[in-house]
Amino acid sequence: MKVLVRNNVYWVGKIDWELRKFHGNEYSTHSGTSYNSYLIIEDKVALIDSVWVPFGREFVANLEDEIGLDKIDYIIANHGEPDHSGGLVELLKRKPKIPVYCTANGAKSLKGYYHEDWNFRVIKTGDKLSLGSKELLFVEAPMLHWPDSMFSYLSGDNILFSNDAFGQHLATENLFNDLVDQEALFTECIKYYANILTPFSPLVKKKIEEFFSLKLPLNVICTSHGVIWRKDPAQIVDKYLQWADGYKENRITVIYDTMWNATRIMGENIAKGIAAADPEVKVKLFNSAKTDKNDIITEIFKSKGIVVGSPTVDKGILSSLSGLLEMIKGLKFKGKKAAVFGSYGWSGESIKVLGESMAEAGFDLIGDGIKMEWQPDREARNKCFEYGKKIAEAFSGQV
Ligand code: FEO
Repeated sequence: MKVLVRNNVYWVGKIDWELRKFHGNEYSTHSGTSYNSYLIIEDKVALIDSVWVPFGREFVANLEDEIGLDKIDYIIANHGEPDHSGGLVELLKRKPKIPVYCTANGAKSLKGYYHEDWNFRVIKTGDKLSLGSKELLFVEAPMLHWPDSMFSYLSGDNILFSNDAFGQHLATENLFNDLVDQEALFTECIKYYANILTPFSPLVKKKIEEFFSLKLPLNVICTSHGVIWRKDPAQIVDKYLQWADGYKENRITVIYDTMWNATRIMGENIAKGIAAADPEVKVKLFNSAKTDKNDIITEIFKSKGIVVGSPTVDKGILSSLSGLLEMIKGLKFKGKKAAVFGSYGWSGESIKVLGESMAEAGFDLIGDGIKMEWQPDREARNKCFEYGKKIAEAFSGQV
């Protein structure tokens, strides 16, 4: 079923209510997602993006019902990742001559995934494609979020087809931003930015500025996941500019894993010390072995600093933290502070390992951390409390 977006532009994508893990196991989709595809039915008919591979057949069957495959003149592949290009396999099996407009890297990734010699038409920024009285303008958008990404802009209707940018993993039968719960929407938006776009923040800012320097009117942003921004689309652009600019709130996040609760007790007392020294700061604790990793990353993104703890195990740290630290390193957070802590029974290397990881990840590491032998007694708990107060002071003035 197609859904009218504006004038002759229709949504023809797929809402995936079931999805709970995306990118393999790398991204949790608590609220499902959608793969948004659009049909522009002018004198010429253009299909923008498609859906994930498992939904390819039903996608093409729907296109057949809605318009007929013979009517599709152009395919615009804004990005080659299979959640947007999967439906093209079935479509181009049946209509192999339809030209596929994409960037040079888009052609490379599509060939790499599907090993098909489709009718590629490689575009560069500024290239246009006439659909009759309206035209599509292409703008390469490398690293938003892959090297092959591009934006397509439809004149007349003033619609930006932004692919992954400005999207969010949210399944909703109400496809428009003004029809959904705003808190749920922005919760998913910031999680998406934090977990996917953070390392590309300098490019996000630059690309947004470049696009808006064209001074094109903008009525709608049609993303490839989640809602269509038809009401005040500039609001999500403004959010991206904020998030791309070293975003942080007055929050400190304490993250730990624990074997026999000693490190947990340390973390809780550190958090109490932070709260006592700075009642304005929001402090949250997460056990990395029990909390969704993408939700922790979102909390880190919002925080001005983090405090990370692990007991010493085999002269290292617990494995739930190792995986999380690898994610943190890859995301290239900027302008955030870190401190470390951990319990131990014998050798006590965990704080050194954690400290080196945080420094390598680009955090401003405060001190050498605090370690406590065996189960923290009253004196040890008090030391953690005092350490928390020092952290509050060291992390102050950061927002
Ligand atoms: Fe939604 Fe980068 O694919």
